[in-house]
Amino acid sequence: MSRGAWGSRLGFILAAAGSAVGLGNIWKFPYITGVHGGGLFVLVYLFCIAVVGVPVLMAEVLIGRSTQRSPVGAFMKLKAPTAYHAVGWLGVLSGFVILSFYSVVAGWSLHYTFLAATNAFAGQDPAAIEAIFGALYVAPGLNVFWHLVVMTITVTVVLGGVSGGIETAVKFLMPALLLLMSAMVINAFFLEGFPEALSFIFAPRVEDLSAEGFVEALGHGFFTLSLGMGAMLTYGSYLQEDDDIPSASLVIALLDTFVALAACLIIFPIIFSSSMEATAGPGLVFASIPVALSQMTGGNILSFVFFALLFFAALSSAISLLEVVASSAIDQLGWSRKRATLGVGLAITVLGIPSALSGGTELFGEGWEAIFGKNFFDGFDWIASNVLLPVGGLLIALYTGWAMPEDVRRREFCQGSSFAGLYPAWLFVIRYVSPVAVLIVFLFSTGILPKSLLEG
Ligand code: TRP
Repeated sequence: MSRGAWGSRLGFILAAAGSAVGLGNIWKFPYITGVHGGGLFVLVYLFCIAVVGVPVLMAEVLIGRSTQRSPVGAFMKLKAPTAYHAVGWLGVLSGFVILSFYSVVAGWSLHYTFLAATNAFAGQDPAAIEAIFGALYVAPGLNVFWHLVVMTITVTVVLGGVSGGIETAVKFLMPALLLLMSAMVINAFFLEGFPEALSFIFAPRVEDLSAEGFVEALGHGFFTLSLGMGAMLTYGSYLQEDDDIPSASLVIALLDTFVALAACLIIFPIIFSSSMEATAGPGLVFASIPVALSQMTGGNILSFVFFALLFFAALSSAISLLEVVASSAIDQLGWSRKRATLGVGLAITVLGIPSALSGGTELFGEGWEAIFGKNFFDGFDWIASNVLLPVGGLLIALYTGWAMPEDVRRREFCQGSSFAGLYPAWLFVIRYVSPVAVLIVFLFSTGILPKSLLEG
């Protein structure tokens, strides 16, 4: 049976970039940058992308290509020690957890697309626009409704199979997103808050970064590059023999980082030009963009285009999450694509309902928070980025660095690559630097090492 392959050399880069670039870049990165005080947080994040993200991305893709399997099957085929088979199952669990709350946020972007389409922001002052997000956040019915819509769309796309659809959609939507965001960065340049925003984002102020921030920067590095759960491994399994894995990985990481920084350069000038707070949290992008655009002629059309593109960026990521879980059920349980996609999709939809109700009900909101320290939605988000993905990423780095047969590893890295000369450097990083970095952060995040050590 043919597994399908990318239609073109660019196909893989487009699909992988489509998975990487999503709500993580435009919704989450600016909001956690705001919460963690900017500057140093951004620097730590960039460091994590460089020494952990990029090397692990290369590792995932080359495991995928060499085995032509989805995660669970890949480690079996490689005859990896049994402990590494956990990567596959952990990945399935991560896919469940992440997609369940991711869909709720994707739903917010759809809601805002419709608000823009109905001219809801025109002529409103910033406070009124900010209040729109506050109202959405606490509306149980609305959140569940959009969550159901997003899951239905995601399941429908994945039912159609991997190649054609994703590739073609991303080929047009990714450049459109890059173009619009570039134009919005240029526009932000002329806002009075731009210099303050620039210093907030890039000037490292040691006193602003907490231990939480270090942990979150690494976890977000995994999240934003779709690492640690086998999504990139699965996409790599559709790659051809002579594709250049190191350079494709670099392109994906650069694109992803560009979008994340551009989102900050768009959002923070707006925040500092009006009376909004950088620490506003999950509503940051939703409250700020319409504020800037509502004052421009044609602003509603731009808002509409922005949120529609944000939704499509979220959708191409959601697809990759569902694809990992569904393809594992297809490969390991022998289910048909239809049965796997519908079954898994339904389970994730149900699991997402408490997240959709986190802002608007006592049960999953404040009540939940009183017991677990975070509401249901924030808890799922936290566990995925701070526990599941780093553990998965650690196992992938350890396997690739220490257990993978040297001939396979070298061949997969070097074949067709203009970066073959980097092999020894990459091997060093994936053996020593990435695992140690993840381990240190993980010890802090779980409280095994006290955070006070970092705060000194
Ligand atoms: N990277 C995506 C984003 O930043 C989210 C995502 C898609 C993801 N697939 C993933 C995260 C797999 C972790 C693992 O929005």
